[in-house]
Parts: sequence; structure tokens; C-alpha cells
Amino acid sequence: AQVDSQPKPLAGRKIIVTSGPTHEPIDPVRYIANRSSGKQGHALAGALAKLGADVHLVSGPVTIADPSGVTTVHVETARQMQAAVEGLLPADAAVFVAAVADWRTANSAGEKIKKVAGEGPPALQMVENPDILAGVGHHAKRPRLVVGFAAETQNIQKNAEAKLSKKGADFIVANDVSHDSGVGPAGVMGGDRNRVRIVSKSGIEEWPELTKAEVASRLAVLIAERLKAV
Ligand code: CTP
Ligand code: CA
Repeated sequence: AQVDSQPKPLAGRKIIVTSGPTHEPIDPVRYIANRSSGKQGHALAGALAKLGADVHLVSGPVTIADPSGVTTVHVETARQMQAAVEGLLPADAAVFVAAVADWRTANSAGEKIKKVAGEGPPALQMVENPDILAGVGHHAKRPRLVVGFAAETQNIQKNAEAKLSKKGADFIVANDVSHDSGVGPAGVMGGDRNRVRIVSKSGIEEWPELTKAEVASRLAVLIAERLKAV
């Protein structure tokens, strides 16, 4: 067997990670979703496992492989993701990387919605999905460390600070997903690079542009440090 001599600062720690999008059905053949490849969340789950953590990844529908050394649960909708995450509590830390759809249709149709001549498009009635991060951030079994992500196209800092308190997170990893952010030809989403800043009550830490794998390993080290400290 190969000898892995890396230090294991997260040995004995249970960590939940969400990743990927959620799909909210309109009917059996159509859905509403956010753009998300799952690359950053899956990379983080793998990086935490490499540091010795017992990682439980709750993934929405993605095309990439399950990370190795991680227990992965596959879900489709926000409500399924929430049930899976809360069912995994208690945990030492939870990191919410998933791009959860903010809304779902009030009633998804049991049969495929057909185009009817003269009737025009269907009016979709939407309702808000549960905020999985906020639920865990304010949960009776709240993990000692709760980390959110924030994809923004403008006012990154201000929005990240607002999310920090609203969701009960210890820190927010904020990234600029606007097309002029300069990260890759089409921005952060789907690409292999990311530029983030870490927003917490004690201030803001700006990281350089890195690969998503590098962001993942730095975050895993940061999480290990925070778990040691709290
Ligand atoms: N999140 C979540 N459940 C939701 C929505 C968001 O767990 N229903 C989590 C995301 O995984 C992320 C953080 O909350 O860690 C911020 O997500 P984001 O979409 O940026 O924030 P929202 O509160 O949904 O605000 P908005 O989309 O309006 O910017
Ligand atoms: Ca959102």
C-alpha cells in the first residue's frame, strides 16, 4: 500500500460539504437550476479528506466524479439537500458550497406540460426554497464551524458581510462570478480557477487568483486551524 505521510490535522473531525446545483422540477422533463459545475465543492471535500476528516459530501446533479476518500450522497432538489444535510448532524463543521436554487415551482406538474396553440406559455408560480445554510447556522445541533460561500456579481464585500450575520456563519468565502472578474475566459463558473476573499467578523482576507484545487487546499488548512482554535 502507498504510504501517505501527510499530516492529518482533521483526523476524527466530521465535516459536511454541499456542492453542485439543485434541480427544481417544473414537470417530468424540465427543471430550474443555478449554474454550478460542483468543481469547487468537490475539490474542497477531497482536500478536507486528505487532511484526515470524515467528509460527507451532499451533491446536487453534477457530471464530475465523486471525490475519493469521501462519503457522497446524491440529491436533486433543495429540500432533498436540506434533509440530507440535517440528517448528517451533529458534525464538527459544515461548508455550504452548493449553488442552491432560491425558488422552486409551487406545484410541479405530474405530466409533461404541452404547448397548446393559442394559449401561450404557462405561468409558473414560484415559492422560496429553504435556506439550508441559515437553517444549520441557527440549528440546535449547529456545528462548531459553519462556512458559507457567496457568489456575487456586484458589491461583493457588502453582500458577503450581510450574509455572514443573516445566515449565522463563521465566515463566508466570497467570489466574483461577474464576467469581467478576469478569472478564466467565461468567469468562475465551470472554469478551473477562482479568486476569493474570506469575510469574517474579524475582517477580510483577500486571496490571489488560484486554481480551484489550490483554493480547496488552502480552505481545508484554514478550516483545520479554525477547528483547532474554537
Ligand atoms: N444557500 C443555502 N440554501 C439556499 C440558498 C443558499 O444553503 N436556499 C447557501 C449557499 O450554499 C451559500 C450561501 O448560502 O453558501 C450563499 O448563497 P447565495 O445564493 O450567495 O445567497 P442567498 O442568500 O441565496 O442570496 P442571493 O442569491 O439573493 O444573493
Ligand atoms: Ca441564492
